[in-house]
Amino acid sequence: GDESDLAIRPPVVTVMGHVDHGKTKLLDALRKANVVAKEAGGITQHIGAYQVAAEVDGDERRITFIDTPGHEAFTAMRARGAQATDIAILVVAADDGVMPQTVEALNHAKAANVPIVVAVNKIDKPEADPTKVRGQLTEYGLVPEEYGGDAMFVDVSAKSELNLDKLLEAVVLTADASLDLRANPHQDAQGLVVEAHLDRGRGPVATVLVQRGTLRVGDSIVAGPAHGRVRAMLDEHGDNIEAADPSRPAMVLGLNAAPSAGQNFIVVEDDRMARQIAEKREARERAAMQAKRRV
Ligand code: GTP
Ligand code: NA
Ligand code: MG
Repeated sequence: GDESDLAIRPPVVTVMGHVDHGKTKLLDALRKANVVAKEAGGITQHIGAYQVAAEVDGDERRITFIDTPGHEAFTAMRARGAQATDIAILVVAADDGVMPQTVEALNHAKAANVPIVVAVNKIDKPEADPTKVRGQLTEYGLVPEEYGGDAMFVDVSAKSELNLDKLLEAVVLTADASLDLRANPHQDAQGLVVEAHLDRGRGPVATVLVQRGTLRVGDSIVAGPAHGRVRAMLDEHGDNIEAADPSRPAMVLGLNAAPSAGQNFIVVEDDRMARQIAEKREARERAAMQAKRRV
């Protein structure tokens, strides 16, 4: 593929921050208010990642959120050298201010070279002090635009669902200003496993994030040491989808085992090749584990 095959893809966002500062509440509020509207009937599923629509300058723009419990995904993926996240939303509770895990998250994002948007949360609380949060983060080198820096800060309340649209807008504007988010949808898909589990009825179920290409039902894939043919794909509504393009999360059915968060997946020619590659990967992982045990 050449330049002309590249298409704009939505930014992929992870929400980070100190314990109890409102990461889960914020992700839930964003999901509830903005998940791309669909007809009634689809059962909303927890799939570990979802897309929302935001209106920015009159255009509908999409944003993909990675929503895994405890947000291990970011760390797990970084540990594997994979980068899923384009932008980090750093949640800081305005009553509590900057805390140790705020700084840890900030350092993670900086090390990964991921732009940060700050959500100053819980501004509904009488003791909220969003100005103090700005001052504290400035000391860590994260300077708000209004102070002459380049980080966007948005005062929000996940509880009262206040300024969530402004937060989404800030994400899109930050992406437009500092990232070139393009990918070729016209090739075999590759991407990352966000989470996976063994479902009683459906067998191994993996939430994957497509990074390049388009994943289709019927494709033969290798995901970490697992392999299989994509039997079905579901979106965040639990509805069947036939294809997933770049930045689209999808729940994949049809693997022979559940891979781990942060492992990559690729589409290959056929089932036989998928099995061969998967067996090689498995053998390599086993050898690596044995080597580790000997140390
Ligand atoms: P951990 O996953 O444990 O690190 O916490 P978290 O960052 O996901 O925080 P969570 O969303 O669980 O919120 C912690 C508490 O703060 C809960 O009781 C929320 O209801 C409350 N909370 C979250 N956002 C807001 C807000 O905007 N305003 C107020 N008043 N409370 C909030
Ligand atoms: Na909590
Ligand atoms: Mg949480």
